[in-house]
Amino acid sequence: MKIFIDTAKISEIREAISWGIVDGVTTNPSLIRKAVEEEKKDMSLEDYIAELLKVAGPDRPVSLEVMGLKSEDMIREAEILYDKFNGIAGNVVIKIPINTYAGHYEGLKTIKRLSEEGIPVNCTLIMTPEQALLAAKAGARYVSPFAGRIDDYLRETKLGLKRGQDFQKGDYYPWDGKGVDDNGIRSGADLVEKTVMILENYDYETEVIASSIRNARQVREVAMIGVHIATIPFHVLQSMLLHPKTEEGVKKFSEDAEKAGYREIFS
Ligand code: E4P
Repeated sequence: MKIFIDTAKISEIREAISWGIVDGVTTNPSLIRKAVEEEKKDMSLEDYIAELLKVAGPDRPVSLEVMGLKSEDMIREAEILYDKFNGIAGNVVIKIPINTYAGHYEGLKTIKRLSEEGIPVNCTLIMTPEQALLAAKAGARYVSPFAGRIDDYLRETKLGLKRGQDFQKGDYYPWDGKGVDDNGIRSGADLVEKTVMILENYDYETEVIASSIRNARQVREVAMIGVHIATIPFHVLQSMLLHPKTEEGVKKFSEDAEKAGYREIFS
């Protein structure tokens, strides 16, 4: 499974790359906003994005999202982003929402046009496998099913729970659900599984990015499913490394190494 880091913070991208585990980066306007507030300092936003693309480097695709809602606006913005930034490291992917508002089909039209122009698209805000199928058919390079937001949706609309009160953003929600579903989708991991299954049935080259990942156990589940890519926030990557018995083991081994006289070998 490829791992993308789901952040726009350059410090986090740099650190995770140094661990040798990063294959790409995804950003969205909310992540850019957070990064800008914390890390941009006196740089312009353009310079900040240019630096982020350089740090990611030529072999790691970086998704940048448009802000328009109409196809003509999204196409224009995508072309501007691609022309302005792809020359830096050749790694720009444009994020296009599958749909912007009901009754209009701006996302698909945009994906079709950009893929014809050779601009790679990550189709975002995928909440059903059917949306992913259409995005792949229209030419998306990646589709991003939002696992965590589907878990939120099931808890909020089907179980009547409130985020921040009855459950927290990072709380685990079981793969097989809690007896409720959204038109047959039992959880975020279930959405990812069905999306992968459908695209693999028809040998699409489109890769599935498990997105809106909120905790380590969700990463385990999407990896068991065999998803091509998971995009993971930095704090979830950190949590994937933790176990009390690992810490306890390291402490004991260090103490015994000291007692056994290891230090002499290294001095
Ligand atoms: C990444 O592509 C998505 O924008 C991101 O994973 C959304 O995560 P969130 O639902 O936790 O905001």
